[in-house]
Amino acid sequence: MKPVELKKDIFWVGAIDWSVRDFHGYETPRGTTYNNYLIKDREITLVDAVKYDFADITIKHITSLVNPSQIKHVVVNHIENDHVTAIDRIMALCPDATIHITERGKKGLDRFFDTSRWKFHLVKTGDTLNIGDNTLLFIETPMLHWPDSMMTYCKEAEILFSQDGFGQHLASSARFDDDFSACVSSVVLEDAVVDYYANILMPFGQLILDAVSSLQKLGIQPKVIAPDHGIIWRKSPQQVVDSYVAMASGKADLRALIIYDTMWKSTEIMSVPISEGIMDEGVDCRVLKLRDTPMNVIIKEFWKARGTLFGTPTLNNIMYPTVAECLTHIRGLRPRNRMAGAFGSYGWGGGAVKECYDTFTKMGLETFDPGLQIVYKPSTEDEEKCYQFGRDFAAKLKEYHTRF
Ligand code: FEO
Repeated sequence: MKPVELKKDIFWVGAIDWSVRDFHGYETPRGTTYNNYLIKDREITLVDAVKYDFADITIKHITSLVNPSQIKHVVVNHIENDHVTAIDRIMALCPDATIHITERGKKGLDRFFDTSRWKFHLVKTGDTLNIGDNTLLFIETPMLHWPDSMMTYCKEAEILFSQDGFGQHLASSARFDDDFSACVSSVVLEDAVVDYYANILMPFGQLILDAVSSLQKLGIQPKVIAPDHGIIWRKSPQQVVDSYVAMASGKADLRALIIYDTMWKSTEIMSVPISEGIMDEGVDCRVLKLRDTPMNVIIKEFWKARGTLFGTPTLNNIMYPTVAECLTHIRGLRPRNRMAGAFGSYGWGGGAVKECYDTFTKMGLETFDPGLQIVYKPSTEDEEKCYQFGRDFAAKLKEYHTRF
């Protein structure tokens, strides 16, 4: 595969990772790409690096365009390993290049590499770098999603190099949103955007709104948004910005999600009349069994739904381990504006449902109290209670949804 030109003399020189399925614990069933960009201006500039395993590929792309020793500037927008571990290999080819990075980025890079060999220029929001026909403007975006993070705007080409922001974990033969539909449907692309946001950026909603506001204050209205993963936005860059603003503002569907696991099927049996009660109340419902569903899908569906019921058997007086794992993931993502409840079967002491509610309270979720517990296998009478539980949850969810 050859480098791909975004605009005159500005190229994608990244790599496609078709096979990655575990991205530091986040499942990536569709693979990913590591995007970086080369600007062939009077002073040749590389924006970002790639993961170490893909160093040969990006170096091959770069070498097909320029003599790497002529690279004068290397911009490091983000120091997470998937974007900088190839920098050692790249800098070996252009040892005289200057690395442009935030102060926190430099401190982080010092922990990974012997940086005493390299020249640095520390940048902050508003700083610019003229490289010939193009001027680069740096915008710090701390905690989006690491302390070091920044974006770089190429003023003349109107390209925003947005690092992880607006990215997706999606390997495909398309590089741009306008040639994407020929490869996979736009529904898949939209799903990949939400998946990425929910699993990585969910905790940073306010910071995202602040970052979009900062871009507007700086007068930045990019014609192209070029993230470090997935598809590059040139047909509809504003659409993905609008989508981010909506998600960061707490957008959710009026839907009840049931996430459950089960030991001897009792909790699973409960989920059926509960889902029927929800649907009969006129609320959309989805049911996911934890052991059969990748965690990234669980997180994404949790994010999309206004309310979730967690179904958990009691095991040794506490919640089922898979449910605890799921709640640990979600708790770390600090969701806002979501309602939660719990149900489950127990044999003698119970305790799982209460433990779920304790967790919901710590997370600051709106709760649907007090949950529902059934002893051993649900009787016909218990199933009627489950049905009513579903109806009551859906009724409260409808009322709760009107607040947003
Ligand atoms: Fe794609 Fe935060 O690294």
